[in-house]
Amino acid sequence: MKTLVTAIQKGGQGKTFATCHLAFDFQERGLRVVVIDLDTQGNASWTLDSHDSGYSASRLFTATGDELRNWFSGRENDGLALIAADTSLANLDKMDLAQAARALRASIEALGDFFDVCLIDTAPSLGVAMTAAVLAADYMLSPVEMEAYSLQGMKKMVAVISNLRKQNPKLRFLGMVPNKVDARKPRHVANLAALQQAYPQLVLPFSVGARDSIAQALGEQVPVWKIKKTAARKAIKEVRGLANYVFTKMEIAQ
Ligand SMILES: Nc1ncnc2c1ncn2[C@@H]1O[C@H](COP(=O)(O)OP(=O)(O)O)[C@@H](O)[C@H]1O
Ligand SMILES: [Mg+2]
Repeated sequence: MKTLVTAIQKGGQGKTFATCHLAFDFQERGLRVVVIDLDTQGNASWTLDSHDSGYSASRLFTATGDELRNWFSGRENDGLALIAADTSLANLDKMDLAQAARALRASIEALGDFFDVCLIDTAPSLGVAMTAAVLAADYMLSPVEMEAYSLQGMKKMVAVISNLRKQNPKLRFLGMVPNKVDARKPRHVANLAALQQAYPQLVLPFSVGARDSIAQALGEQVPVWKIKKTAARKAIKEVRGLANYVFTKMEIAQ
């Protein structure tokens, strides 16, 4: 099983959008997908509610691998299982980071008995949950809006990644996904150019536009390709492109 974490220390960038769409796309490819929602806001849990496994995210940090195996063995799912956010996630910040990371790694290893790919959605703060997820993951993706505060958040994230990679050398940063880009806004165009110049190796070679149909889809608990509007076409092409790119880079085996 390959594990990807979507993270950036700033809200509203598209972490949950990306996690949910990768999950829907990978499920359609016939992969067995598990999504872990580590954000107490529970946005991914809401969008993927119909896929809830009944196992809650905070238990990944406390329960043993055997408990998890017992829960998932013999349990049917439609190729997409959600480990939903719960209120106890808030207590993780009282936990020792090394211990939390160790427990999460053991849980992910157990999930590998049942799934081909694990996608982790995180909260916008660099707490124990996000840090443990980055320490446990194989891949990381960071969506980012073309606004000043977001670029500052991205800069901080880059520093954090290089630090955490010392503790998790297998981590591969797939890159920054310029998201909600409005090419008619000179500010967005300039910020995108500045980001590409600052991190030529780290910005993905495509972006996702500010598309109303994406927000609509997440609200309707479906992927954007289920939105039957002409206006959704561009969004569908961009999101499928993103999923295809990540799928190829992750080299997921079935
Ligand atoms: N490309 C996009 N175009 C339009 N709206 C988007 C796009 N990506 C995300 N959104 C919307 O922006 C808001 C923030 O996105 P979200 O994925 O929840 O960010 P995060 O998880 O980083 O906080 C959500 O309401 C979502 O529907
Ligand atoms: Mg989110």
